[in-house]
Amino acid sequence: SMEEHPQVDLPLPPHVLIFPFQAQGHVNSMLKLAELLCLAGLHVTFLVSEAVHSLLLRHSPAHSRSPGFRFRTISDGIPPEHRRSGTGHLKELLSSLRTTVKPLFREMIVSSNRLSGEDRRPVTCVVADGVLSFVLDLGEELGIPVIYFRTISACAFWSYFCIPKLLEAGELPFQALLYLSDKLSDSILYESGLGNDLDVPIEHVPGMKEFLRRRDFPRIGDWGNPDFQFVLTETLQTPRAQGLILNTFEDLEGPILSHIQTQMPNLYTVGPLHAHLKARLAAKLMSSSSTYSNSFREEDRSCLTWLDTKPARSVLYVSFGSFMVMTRDQLIEFWHGLVNSGKSFLWVTRSDLMDGQDGESPIQTDLLEATKERGYTVGWAPQEEVLAHPSVGGFLTHSGWNSTLESIEAGVQMICWPYFADQQVNSRFVSEVWKIGLDMKDICDRLTVEKMVRDLMEVGENEFAKSANRMAELARNAVSDGGSSYCNLDRLIEDIRSMSL
Ligand code: UDX
Repeated sequence: SMEEHPQVDLPLPPHVLIFPFQAQGHVNSMLKLAELLCLAGLHVTFLVSEAVHSLLLRHSPAHSRSPGFRFRTISDGIPPEHRRSGTGHLKELLSSLRTTVKPLFREMIVSSNRLSGEDRRPVTCVVADGVLSFVLDLGEELGIPVIYFRTISACAFWSYFCIPKLLEAGELPFQALLYLSDKLSDSILYESGLGNDLDVPIEHVPGMKEFLRRRDFPRIGDWGNPDFQFVLTETLQTPRAQGLILNTFEDLEGPILSHIQTQMPNLYTVGPLHAHLKARLAAKLMSSSSTYSNSFREEDRSCLTWLDTKPARSVLYVSFGSFMVMTRDQLIEFWHGLVNSGKSFLWVTRSDLMDGQDGESPIQTDLLEATKERGYTVGWAPQEEVLAHPSVGGFLTHSGWNSTLESIEAGVQMICWPYFADQQVNSRFVSEVWKIGLDMKDICDRLTVEKMVRDLMEVGENEFAKSANRMAELARNAVSDGGSSYCNLDRLIEDIRSMSL
């Protein structure tokens, strides 16, 4: 009876299924959201591919997950020996979505009573990556509410969303895109004489008229390219979702958010999520240490000890994220530029960073010898901790959105060398809008690298360092009690609860 077992009658919490696109940058931020929902007492099932699951189990401690959290796996049909970086992997992921993941997902939801279990309800709400519109279809069919989470910046999302307008106005496609789509190489572009075309302004993205050039527009190839079509059609479906979660904050992208809200009124900006999770854990007096790592790779923590030996703000951290591949020539240019700058640097040289040469160390031993004192390389770093380390004074980054937010929250100024997609527009915002760094896009020669590193790392308070500190404070305020992201997360949780009644 009720008196004897009062807890038996407590209603079970809402059960949220979170479904990311299976890449490090997506899984990372969606796992942070999952932890935040669990902290609020919700049940979360987090759906990953078997491949991603085994990487996470191997490199990120499972015991640290919150109560209420569980993984479920789904096959992606990609052979385990295939490399998990570069545009080749992206194409494979995209085609497996259609052929393997979509039918399996459907079967999973329909046949297993919406993933319910002894101690949890059937799924009451899905938070799906904003590029998985087949989840919207299924949600509509089965009457399950679907909220979208797009893991890129608001400025990148908005640029994609405006593509139909750009096509109509004739601003897209432009000729240089044909070169950029496959080659992603600046030298070919300039040899072809199309490089300067990239400085033509783009006028039909509301809110960006003042500073957006062709070269800053997200780069996913030309109009006929299937990846471009995929991103475009997926983006245009967004208004069908019940709401849109973005990992950003109002003080960072406010003006762009207002434009997005004309199309998606129910917007939840809850970022920076990594900082948000730290703040909420701290408020509950729980540890916010590296146990919340969501890494697919083994972190080499020795770099933190190396950083301890360096003076304050003297080290440039160099990392190009989990996905980018570069040519040997580009790598050598960076290496020389860094060495010639005379500054200390910590460089993440992933084993698959260089195009087509997994495993082989990309850096010649004589160059390594020459900078033993000043240069330190690791295969993968505990990046959040590195950026928070007092010895780090700058970040040479590919402008992936997680990296950008992590740098912003740590108050670290940047040099941007974007690779593809959203990164091109992120780096423009870093340099021209937020003024917290330099944009080196489309250039890769040792002289430029050397000069930019020197300019950025000059001792004393430069303009970038000041704005970076200001922005870091705004980021931390956003995720503190009463801040914009803090309130938006509470609203999201309330909405999930009321959808689950
Ligand atoms: C990509 C896109 O760049 C990104 O903009 C998009 O939203 C998702 O896919 P990725 O290229 O991996 O992701 O870059 P980024 O978004 O910066 O994510 C990399 C993550 O790996 C960051 O959270 C970073 O902290 C982490 N990382 C990177 C490490 O933990 N150690 C490293 O050595 C390098």
